[in-house]
Amino acid sequence: MALRNIRQYGDEVLGKVCREVKDVTPRIRELIEDMKETMYANNGVGLAAPQVGVLRRVVVVDVGEGPIVLINPRIMETSGERTEEEGCLSLPGKSGLVTRPAYVKVEAYNEAMERIEVEGEELLARAFCHEIDHLDGHMYVEKVEGGVHDVAYEEEEEEG
Ligand code: NI
Repeated sequence: MALRNIRQYGDEVLGKVCREVKDVTPRIRELIEDMKETMYANNGVGLAAPQVGVLRRVVVVDVGEGPIVLINPRIMETSGERTEEEGCLSLPGKSGLVTRPAYVKVEAYNEAMERIEVEGEELLARAFCHEIDHLDGHMYVEKVEGGVHDVAYEEEEEEG
């Protein structure tokens, strides 16, 4: 396993649409392990493959309940709305208010390429939406209400 370099806001790779994963090859497996390690090392709650420069539909999320790996994720259902501060490891030290669903149900594939459904509420729902947006070349700053601002150090653990 190895830490990977996180691409920063403004890097053109973050604006690109990622390709689906057909098979979990050793290379994809290594990518997933490296993404987890990189997310934890940076105190993130999520990381998407394009953030480490790989244009594949792979996401890792951990809001403190253990790692969730999503391959080719797709949001199937949403409900409610929450407006909260959100940040991103590709724009460290910054955050802004973003409205996201309070609940989402996601369809994806796991590392064995088995179809899974995962549900998330609150921060987990937000993390799923934020990371899946990355796969389509979107950053939270596009959705920020009232602009992006500097955050206090203790808020940085909620970056994805
Ligand atoms: Ni992000």
